[in-house]
Amino acid sequence: MVNDIHSIKEQAQEEIHNAASLKEVQSLKVKYLGKKGIITTKARSLGAVPKEDRPAYGQELNSLKKSIDELLQARAESCKAAEMEQSLQAERLDLTIPGSFTAFGHLHPVTQVMDEITAIFISLGFTVEEGPEVEHDYYNFEALNMPPDHPARDMQDTFYISDDVVLRTHTSSVQVRVMEKNSPPLRVIAPGKVYRCDADVSHIPMFHQLEGFMVDKHIRMSDLKGVLELFIHRVFGPDTKVRLRPSFFPFTEPSAEIDISCVMCRGKGCNVCGTSGWIEILGAGMINPRVYEKAGYDPGTYTGFAFGMGIERVAMLKYSIDDVRLFPENDKRFLEQF
Ligand code: PHE
Repeated sequence: MVNDIHSIKEQAQEEIHNAASLKEVQSLKVKYLGKKGIITTKARSLGAVPKEDRPAYGQELNSLKKSIDELLQARAESCKAAEMEQSLQAERLDLTIPGSFTAFGHLHPVTQVMDEITAIFISLGFTVEEGPEVEHDYYNFEALNMPPDHPARDMQDTFYISDDVVLRTHTSSVQVRVMEKNSPPLRVIAPGKVYRCDADVSHIPMFHQLEGFMVDKHIRMSDLKGVLELFIHRVFGPDTKVRLRPSFFPFTEPSAEIDISCVMCRGKGCNVCGTSGWIEILGAGMINPRVYEKAGYDPGTYTGFAFGMGIERVAMLKYSIDDVRLFPENDKRFLEQF
């Protein structure tokens, strides 16, 4: 009997010593001390031990139980510590590694220039209107004095959706839309995307324009010049010279191209301005009475001016960019410079 206890003790000691995890310790606890465990079973069969040996045997059994319990507890502690250490090592954080960071974006340079120009005209009392990019032939051409088959339509390479629906080729399409719904006095700008079937260093098929027009009694060409000069001085600096060169648009009469003294060479002549010292920046003119007729205004009562500029072109001149295709390319090395 006592031998029995001795060998159980030895076996338990060895097994507990070799237990490598909390789980193994737990199953050894079940094996020795559980309801059907070795010690418990021995205790139950105490009745089979001769009466005189029982107290001594019982005592041996109790102290064996106690020592196994202590061994199990000690082993559990050390396994727990080892497991904790292991998981700490595995999840170790190196607080000296530089953090990863998300770069902040910013507005696209075309949007920045558009916002800047818009703010200038708002400060002059203009309001902002928008029109659809998919537009009726009527507003894009016909209401602007370009009837079907008018040769001036060739000036703008048009994307046709159907025979009488186009992608607007200019923001001038907003003029008659606004006039139909409002009566003079009008001071309006219409910024937005326009589309032309054209692509090279200075043309992209989708670009941005900003239209402006003012209609009231007694508006004169000098008002047009004054407003545009003020705008140009704010964007390109007060020393920039402005000149009006006769031109043609079906929806303005008279019409002009507005040139500014070259922003690169300040008028001396360089390869950007083609040695002339001047750069064309926008188209403008006095609104053609035919447009008022389409809008339902009395052409004898009202006069006004209109102008339209390409935002990419203004941005290119402002920042000395030589290829318009850089704008839609979205190369971060380009965009980060603004
Ligand atoms: N719509 C013309 C263009 O896109 C520009 C313009 C607008 C000219 C208003 C005169 C008046 O070329």
